[in-house]
Amino acid sequence: MSKLFAPVTLGAPTGPGLVLRNRTVLAPMCQYSITRRDGVPHAWQLSHLGARAAGGFGLVFTEATAVTAQGRISDQDTGIWNAEQAEAWAPIVEFIHSQGASAGIQLAHAGGKASTYAWLPGFFESGRTGNISVADGGWETIGPSATDALGLQAPTAMNREQIDASIVAWAQAVRRADAAGFDVVQIHAAHGYLIHQFLSPLSNQRTDSYGGSYTNRTRYAREVITAVRAAWPAHKPLAIRFSGEDWVEEGWRIADTVRFAAEAFEMGVSSFDISSAGIGTYRGPAGPGYQVSLAASVKAALPGAFVTAVGMITDAAQAEQVLVTGAADGVSIGRAALKNPNWPATAARELNEPLENTPFAEQYWRAHW
Ligand SMILES: Cc1cc2nc3c(=O)[nH]c(=O)nc-3n(C[C@H](O)[C@H](O)[C@H](O)COP(=O)(O)O)c2cc1C
Repeated sequence: MSKLFAPVTLGAPTGPGLVLRNRTVLAPMCQYSITRRDGVPHAWQLSHLGARAAGGFGLVFTEATAVTAQGRISDQDTGIWNAEQAEAWAPIVEFIHSQGASAGIQLAHAGGKASTYAWLPGFFESGRTGNISVADGGWETIGPSATDALGLQAPTAMNREQIDASIVAWAQAVRRADAAGFDVVQIHAAHGYLIHQFLSPLSNQRTDSYGGSYTNRTRYAREVITAVRAAWPAHKPLAIRFSGEDWVEEGWRIADTVRFAAEAFEMGVSSFDISSAGIGTYRGPAGPGYQVSLAASVKAALPGAFVTAVGMITDAAQAEQVLVTGAADGVSIGRAALKNPNWPATAARELNEPLENTPFAEQYWRAHW
């Protein structure tokens, strides 16, 4: 049996934890499909996530789903800041479960990277790569500091009330995610969005207790984790996604990520997905498995956690190698799963997994996998 298709348990503070049928994880991917601009998921999310659950993923993550309307990356994002959105997620979760997959929701607040245009075909050609202006239907953005480090219009620096209100919003979103039936919440602390904006010295220029030292820059993240863990049932696993590196000397570095991941683990986060970058121009490496070493650093420090690697992991043998070498416990698959929703089932056959351990919808059995 391959490692990739060996079940694994995601730990939780109480109870036996969550058993995933295999170690393939659908990476969270914005779909920019909420053309009604109300954040309510619909047939596209059911079809997109449902197909990948049917295609064999162990854990299927939703796209970045906003905890407040102001925290949306674009006005076509999904949300979970109200009951209507939560109710619309419930049948999607139910379908994911019916296919044998576990359902995770990535909760996000874009902070100073909110109110941007949907990244759909024509995005670059249109020249509309910055913020949507208020006149064009955009909205005011907030972040730790009024800085242009994000390559966008400077957000309004959050005051204490806004920080507190945002933490309440994270907790409320988590309660709705529980009511919708999700098995895992993943806190989006990567890619230059709000939490990462606080963590990184590139975007956090505060002089109060939320800026300056490592302890101060990580305070907002700690407060979010504390509130989220308290609002999320103790028997359900909590996950987080970090940018392991800003890939610049004066930024957030892998040593910071490893240090903070250990703190998060102590606070009840049991699952870590390690991506990179997101503040300013990309300055990191590119190529197959370009972020695996970041996941390996976290894994080495936290042997008891479930750590996933992500980034240009595209074929079965490569994924298996990541696991066999001990670099990570699972793999998050993004673009390769956009091309092939049956990526896990296909990979299982390539790894000579027995048919009974090849995850596919039984309606498709005559493909003989
Ligand atoms: C269409 C698209 C949308 C994405 N949206 C998100 C998102 O909502 N949240 C997130 O954390 N990462 C997002 N990402 C990043 C992916 O989760 C993943 O980290 C990245 O694509 C690298 O993995 P890959 O090489 O397997 O695609 C997105 C990527 C793509 C291609």
